[in-house]
Amino acid sequence: MFKLRAMQARDIPAVMSIQQESYAAEVLEDEAVIRTRLAACPQLAWVAEDAIGVCAYLFAYHSRVGKVTPLDGEFQHHAEANCLYLHDLAVSRRASGRGIGPALVRKNLEQARTQKLRYSALVSVQESEAFWSRLGYAAHTALEPAQISNLSSYQIPAVYMVRALH
Ligand SMILES: CC(C)(COP(=O)(O)OP(=O)(O)OC[C@H]1O[C@@H](n2cnc3c(N)ncnc32)[C@H](O)[C@@H]1OP(=O)(O)O)[C@@H](O)C(=O)NCCC(=O)NCCS
Repeated sequence: MFKLRAMQARDIPAVMSIQQESYAAEVLEDEAVIRTRLAACPQLAWVAEDAIGVCAYLFAYHSRVGKVTPLDGEFQHHAEANCLYLHDLAVSRRASGRGIGPALVRKNLEQARTQKLRYSALVSVQESEAFWSRLGYAAHTALEPAQISNLSSYQIPAVYMVRALH
């Protein structure tokens, strides 16, 4: 059993340790960046908690479709946002395979629909493309040069993916 709840500043140490165990060294973001992400968009930052403690997290914000957030880049707010941008989803290894990742994504997608956003997008890394395809996302390769450059900030293979929201 697990529950989803809004992330609090006191969850950051747990978030940092899940990030550390989930990602390659090239794509780790430091604590100051992570704290800025929570402060920028607290209503879209969620954690999952089970009997042992916080076991997964998701950061997101509102962006424009076609805009790629670089690694360590700030969440830049757009006056005409049309896209829920999922920046970072990670599930602790001890809690993987229980549907917690998809539950966090669905939670944010429900919020986005009530806010009338038309798209959701993300950067897939670490061979997670098939995971995101199951959630309705598809690779979107027609990017402007500045956005291709943002994608290369990841230094490991990274694919920008988009889905429409109905
Ligand atoms: C990818 C990740 C978020 C999946 O979270 P999870 O809660 O363990 O997801 P689940 O295994 O319950 O996933 C649901 C389905 O996706 C499948 N799946 C999980 N990871 C997958 C992957 N990398 N590729 C393809 N399918 C995957 C599962 O088999 C499962 O299928 P089912 O519904 O038919 O049983 C998690 O493994 C993780 O945090 N990985 C490290 C960080 C990372 O790479 N995040 C994504 C960066 S964009």
